[in-house]
Amino acid sequence: MKNFNVTVPVEVREYSELEPQDALLIDEARRATDGAYAPYSDFFVGAALRMDDGTVVRGANQENAAFSSGTCAERSAMFGAAANHPDRIFTDIAIAARKGDTFQRLPISPCGACRQALLEYENKQKKPIRVLLYGEEGVYILPSVASLLPLCFTEF
Ligand code: THU
Repeated sequence: MKNFNVTVPVEVREYSELEPQDALLIDEARRATDGAYAPYSDFFVGAALRMDDGTVVRGANQENAAFSSGTCAERSAMFGAAANHPDRIFTDIAIAARKGDTFQRLPISPCGACRQALLEYENKQKKPIRVLLYGEEGVYILPSVASLLPLCFTEF
């Protein structure tokens, strides 16, 4: 028998300790929450995706009365960016969430379906997408989407 442990590398920084470019992307993600349509959960999630030319595309969760027809902020940003900029490399994604007007104390992390969807684009471009997760008490920084999804399913 053999065992192994899987570890996820997470760097934790205060917002004030962020590199300026990272702070700007977090600001975009916070602003992106204003685009959420979340009448059922009152949970407003924003995502900001930066491309290699510096362009930032925002996304926000879009809910629907037929619940499963809605989508998360991360996929909203990624699908919008990929559809409009199919040849660009995505470098970083920042995510922020608030309940009502109050941003989350601790970062939220993308759901399983979003991790899988983001991973597809990371694999396609063969370059990592850094992940910045905003919390009022600290920002989690991960070096790639793959690091968020150990033992992932990839193409067969
Ligand atoms: N949601 C996101 O947009 N991203 C996440 O990472 C987790 C959850 C949305 C889906 C739903 O509209 C609301 O948050 C409550 O689950």
